[in-house]
Amino acid sequence: MAYPRIRIEDARRYAGESVEIAGWLYNLRKSGKIVFPLMRDGSGTMQCVAVKANLDEALFEELKNLTQESSLILRGKIRAEQRAPGGFEMDVESAQVVQRVPESDPYPITPKEHGTDFLMDHRHLWLRSKRQHAVIRVRAEVIKAVRDYFDSHGFTLVDTPIFTPAACEGTTTLFEVNYFDEEKVYLTQSGQLYNEATALAFGKTYCFGPTFRAEKSKTRRHLTEFWMVEPEMAYATLEDVKQVAEELVVFVVGRVLENRRQELADLERDASKLETVKAPFPRMSYDDAVLELQKKGSEIQWGSDFGGTDETLITEGLDRPLMVDRYPTQVKAFYFQPDADRPELALGVDVIAPEGYGEIIGGGQRIHDLDLLLKRLEEHNLPPEAFNWYVDLRKYGSVPHGGFGMGIERFVAWMCGLEHIRETIAFPRMLYRTRP
Ligand code: 4AD
Ligand code: MG
Repeated sequence: MAYPRIRIEDARRYAGESVEIAGWLYNLRKSGKIVFPLMRDGSGTMQCVAVKANLDEALFEELKNLTQESSLILRGKIRAEQRAPGGFEMDVESAQVVQRVPESDPYPITPKEHGTDFLMDHRHLWLRSKRQHAVIRVRAEVIKAVRDYFDSHGFTLVDTPIFTPAACEGTTTLFEVNYFDEEKVYLTQSGQLYNEATALAFGKTYCFGPTFRAEKSKTRRHLTEFWMVEPEMAYATLEDVKQVAEELVVFVVGRVLENRRQELADLERDASKLETVKAPFPRMSYDDAVLELQKKGSEIQWGSDFGGTDETLITEGLDRPLMVDRYPTQVKAFYFQPDADRPELALGVDVIAPEGYGEIIGGGQRIHDLDLLLKRLEEHNLPPEAFNWYVDLRKYGSVPHGGFGMGIERFVAWMCGLEHIRETIAFPRMLYRTRP
């Protein structure tokens, strides 16, 4: 008899039928003449029931003594079972153990508690656990939703290079790479500068890829390698940028709620905290945010950037993200268009997530005036030869334009309600971690 191979997530379509599941032993419960292998196949977990009387004796013994994470294929009939998590069980008819994990070198991650360092050292295996599985699936959903949003709103995907000759977000967080014959290049901090070129070519573009920051800070919000999606629009002002950022966030949160309820439940994430994420988001100027923070007891002075604690304080009690705009130019990158009435302010916006998740989006309107850009490059000591092409964009059909970057890991940490962003990417890169 042929047993069609199915995925556990599709089990409900096969109730009453004989099928096979190929996976790994997640856990094993025994009760006299019955064993209950809990199977995991990457799409979900399912309890299976192997009854001694129905099976070949050697096979029953093999199943009974099976070790955690051994790989195996189980064949049998799917049966609806209300008490089972997931609602279905398999009555095992036959089985094939593909690789048995030896007792002498057992799977290192047991159901008992392990420390974070231990788990991070075993990240290649830790990804098999239910919680990590849920986080990574939420991440995949976020990425798909982001792409769907831009693809269906007139943006063309144009990916930008990783080796770059110039700094985008300040020279202190650059990773330098030796690039043949003495030429130095850097790992990109942001695709933005290239996006400005592609936006003037295509009108609306986005890039989506890994970005790098040599952040010496060891915080729960910083990675040295993270993924960022960055839209850029020609003929756009700060207000246009804010509108797209708000729409994107609402859209992506909606998709996570629509398609990843089970994962949120597995993570014990209070989904009601995401259901309130609707437009319009509250908006506040940097000036007002500083006053508000001082009232709440922060030491912040006008002219400095918000720290992580300020971001948490300013969003306290909010049920959706907050948009703060018009920061002092001195705390922002060189490329921001200044406010026409108050040139000491940059036309930039940060979107700060509630519940202490901090800045998830940063962006704004770019300088479109040639002379001002040249002045800024000089003030920031940026090498003109690396920016020639960027300057060209102000010579040939310059227009007001703008965009933003959204950090995927910060966004996913917020969706999943995670304490630290290291769990939002399969193999995180941090100050003290480059392995596995
Ligand atoms: O605010 P940032 O530095 O902005 C830029 O890079 C702009 N050039 C983007 C643009 O306008 N096209 O970074 C944007 C976002 C932050 O809001 C945050 O979500 C994330 O990227 N981010 C980080 N995420 C994890 N680890 C880090 N070290 C991050 N640095 C920034
Ligand atoms: Mg920022």
